[in-house]
Amino acid sequence: MILCGIFILNFIPLSKTGQPASAKPEEDWTEIPPAQLVSSRDPSDLDAGMRIFQNKCALCHGKLGEGGAGPNLTDNYWKHGGDVSNLYNVITKGVATTSMTPWETSVTPKERLQLASFILSLQGTNPQGAKEPEGEAWLTGGSNQDSEKSPAPMN
Ligand code: HEC
Repeated sequence: MILCGIFILNFIPLSKTGQPASAKPEEDWTEIPPAQLVSSRDPSDLDAGMRIFQNKCALCHGKLGEGGAGPNLTDNYWKHGGDVSNLYNVITKGVATTSMTPWETSVTPKERLQLASFILSLQGTNPQGAKEPEGEAWLTGGSNQDSEKSPAPMN
């Protein structure tokens, strides 16, 4: 019996480094500093982002980002801002009291940036069944530009 208890304890995943217990050792869980939050147009990043999106996000945002339980991600209207850093932060922290949960412990920072980059690549695609806009129009169209920050959206 005692042996059995020790055995079970050994299987409880313990995190020694403050990383999520589910993290694979080779993954880097260091958050990306704000200044380095630049969207990628590298096809391999967009492809990786698309695969994670289909897996974890399409359920609520639609396979093509057209929206469902969650907002349409293909128009330039955003509830939480349309910059790559806004998207990264929402994906990381989620939106309290909504079904948009935080992904910071299950999706690595690099993958969250790939997700944000993929989502921005959907801008203007107007897929079939696109949900009506929610939030504010983003002046730069949520474009996949790396450069300037958009001014706050005007009412
Ligand atoms: C269980 C449903 C659900 C899942 C799964 C989900 N979301 Fe969401 N998401 C939502 C809802 C609902 C909102 C709107 C929250 C609000 O009202 O502010 C949202 C908001 C967002 C926003 C902000 C949109 C805006 O207008 O500012 C982004 C970006 C986003 N989700 C990305 C993702 C990504 C990436 C994933 C997968 C890793 C994901 N979501 C998975 C439901 C979901």
